[in-house]
Amino acid sequence: MQATTLETSTNIYVPQIAEMISIVQCTAMEKLFRLRFLDGHDLGHQPGQFVEISLFGVGECPISVTSSPTERGYFDLCIRKTGKVTDALHKLPVGSKVGIRGPFGRGFNPDEMKGQDILFIGGGIGLVPMRSLINYVIHPTYRPNYRNITILYGAKNPSEFLFPEEMEEWRNRKDIDFRITVDKAVPGWQGNVGVITTLIPPLQLDALHTFCVIVGPPIMYKFVLISLADKNIPEDKIIMSLERQMKCGVGKCGHCAIGEYYCCIDGPVFKYPEVKHIKEAL
Ligand SMILES: Cc1cc2nc3c(=O)[nH]c(=O)nc-3n(C[C@H](O)[C@H](O)[C@H](O)COP(=O)(O)OP(=O)(O)OC[C@H]3O[C@@H](n4cnc5c(N)ncnc54)[C@H](O)[C@@H]3O)c2cc1C
Ligand code: FES
Repeated sequence: MQATTLETSTNIYVPQIAEMISIVQCTAMEKLFRLRFLDGHDLGHQPGQFVEISLFGVGECPISVTSSPTERGYFDLCIRKTGKVTDALHKLPVGSKVGIRGPFGRGFNPDEMKGQDILFIGGGIGLVPMRSLINYVIHPTYRPNYRNITILYGAKNPSEFLFPEEMEEWRNRKDIDFRITVDKAVPGWQGNVGVITTLIPPLQLDALHTFCVIVGPPIMYKFVLISLADKNIPEDKIIMSLERQMKCGVGKCGHCAIGEYYCCIDGPVFKYPEVKHIKEAL
């Protein structure tokens, strides 16, 4: 009996069972699932890591952990409904059981950013992996380790903003500069209109002491990188999370190859100089 328990907890292919303890509809396409392992253990992830979530008889897919490691006893996944597995997950009620493998991959390294400014640039669902790091560095225990924290967040239109209550908290905090934009205005919208790069030129950045964390759709990286070069941000302070189609999540199947890397084990978080030379990376 003891041998089986040990085998299960160390075998990277064997899912562990977690229960959905709450489900919140964030937008028309995304739901926030809070999960807890049946045996109560913590996931033990770093911000930016992902898990493979499985629904028995349906399939498995990689999803970023969106909660901060500072939250204990549960973890959150924000899932967009896009196909077979995610559609099925969206139909589940609270109390449902799913399989979880992981956490996997190389996440962000908050220690490396200590004593520096951090500029977050998130587009659309890119806020999901980034939120884990944001909520880690703004946690009262860790906030003193960092200087200025700026969060730029863009969505196609206001109805696509994820986590509106949390956005309000970030907006109200004196120690965070939080700015948002939408690609298209709707009646009643009074904020900035334009792509996320329109928020960068007005920023006063201490270029040599600022880490920039970027997560968003592929098209966003190209233009954000140009704007950050205009601000003289050193390339080795630009950090990004890349998404590739994955299967195994543990470096065995080759589905997620980008140049010489396997995104699932060498990433999904990379420094810009690591992937700059790989044409298909960005
Ligand atoms: C490291 C990582 C982290 C991720 N984190 C999240 C997250 O936090 N929240 C979230 O909603 N999604 C996330 N995704 C994307 C998610 O894994 C896919 O949407 C999911 O695999 C789709 O599975 P499905 O069975 O529902 O759809 P399928 O029926 O398999 O496919 C539906 C459509 O989505 C496309 N697709 C499948 N996987 C991907 C992918 N990785 N990238 C782009 N298109 C894809 C397929 O080609 C197809 O067109 C992440 C992906 C990776 C690799
Ligand atoms: S998903 Fe299998 S090697 Fe990366």
